Amino acid sequence: MDAVPAPEVSALVLHGQRSQLVPVTDEHATELRRIRAAREVRRYWRDVDASSGWPLDEPSVARFAVLVDGEVRGLAQYTEEDDEDYRHASIDIFLDPVMHGEGLGRDAVATLARYLVDHRGHHRLVIDPAADNTAAIRCYASVGFRPCGGHAALRARRPRRGLARRAADGLAGRRAEARQHRRTAAGFSCSGAAHVHRPHRSPLHLDQRHPLSAAERHNGDMTELRVAHTADLPTEALQAVRELLDGAFPADEAYTEQDHEHALGGVHALVWEGTELIGHGSVVMRRLLHDGRALRTGYVEAVAVRADRRRLGHGDAVMGSLERVIRRGYVCGALSASGMAGAFYASRGWQVWTGTISVVTPHGVERAEDEEGGIYVLPGSASLTARGDLACDWRDGEPW
Ligand SMILES: CC(C)(COP(=O)(O)OP(=O)(O)OC[C@H]1O[C@@H](n2cnc3c(N)ncnc32)[C@H](O)[C@@H]1OP(=O)(O)O)[C@@H](O)C(=O)NCCC(=O)NCCS
Repeated sequence: MDAVPAPEVSALVLHGQRSQLVPVTDEHATELRRIRAAREVRRYWRDVDASSGWPLDEPSVARFAVLVDGEVRGLAQYTEEDDEDYRHASIDIFLDPVMHGEGLGRDAVATLARYLVDHRGHHRLVIDPAADNTAAIRCYASVGFRPCGGHAALRARRPRRGLARRAADGLAGRRAEARQHRRTAAGFSCSGAAHVHRPHRSPLHLDQRHPLSAAERHNGDMTELRVAHTADLPTEALQAVRELLDGAFPADEAYTEQDHEHALGGVHALVWEGTELIGHGSVVMRRLLHDGRALRTGYVEAVAVRADRRRLGHGDAVMGSLERVIRRGYVCGALSASGMAGAFYASRGWQVWTGTISVVTPHGVERAEDEEGGIYVLPGSASLTARGDLACDWRDGEPW
């Protein structure tokens, strides 16, 4: 499958059924170190490879914090083998012991696996639990991973060491390894090779002959949220935004060319399901006039989720990203809600503006009574009481 056409990524969130996987940052490090130090985790996740900078020490290992309801509950990571002949990804995971046995591992592994297959174009994934780690083996099997029996080349060609160690070896080391794989693959039987390299491991793999189990394949299981400025979105992605919005509204609220123009020039949150765009919203900067002040406002535009994917939390994910941009980049947020969306925004803490609504037109400030009752604000560092007059700056098309 082609890669998603949004190469300039500033944020990536992988959505599972229960968990969210987000790239590890400083704010996750302390909690991840605490979880990794737990006895049940240490038993299988050796500390020997860990540097003091862990988990931010190895750019070649893609590490995700596993979040449940916003709390850090573990770590999932992958590395990629780029050699064309042997391209595959290796996955590793640990979870907080208090979350063991609840299906979170399956959810997180399936989420990462779908990302690697659907978005990174892998046809083969490898995971390498200790042979006595029956809980992990069962968990991976339930996602669709199978023992490597019958795939001699796969088992023989990678002497298995920790991901961290492999990454530290660098490209030269990996190339040498690949050459060694080719030699051993030709000469060893599957089981012989496995015993030579790592007798206490029980490698499993997932490839297209063993797709993800039915439970993991339902619609919406694997989506990817990307956040990018208009300047970083390819033409195809902007075209997909237009098509999504064209189909999202009833005829009397149809999305126009001017509405689309209003959605550009800021930060977009896009939900991709494979190569299909199923959710979008953007935030652009405007000046709102209130109480004698010109407020630097993050104005939300073009929010929509494809009709067959609604009430699955995608709108929530889009708005969560945009609200973060608003909180960090603006003094408040504002938007004009379509008829059907007021309850959605209200459920997130947006407040309907109960005062008057105006527009700063080229001829002066004019009241816009039609808009009253439909404008919502998200107070930030600017304390808004949602009373008095709120006026927006001028633009072509609908000012609000
Ligand atoms: C508004 C819209 C973006 C919401 O997207 P969504 O993915 O369906 O929303 P979510 O599943 O994330 O909903 C999150 C919460 O918002 C609230 N919510 C969402 N849609 C709602 C609705 N139609 N009525 C009442 N509450 C709603 C609920 O509290 C919901 O949680 P719940 O499903 O657990 O009850 C989507 O309905 C849509 O695209 N509508 C057409 C376009 C549109 O009106 N865009 C807004 C322009 S201002």
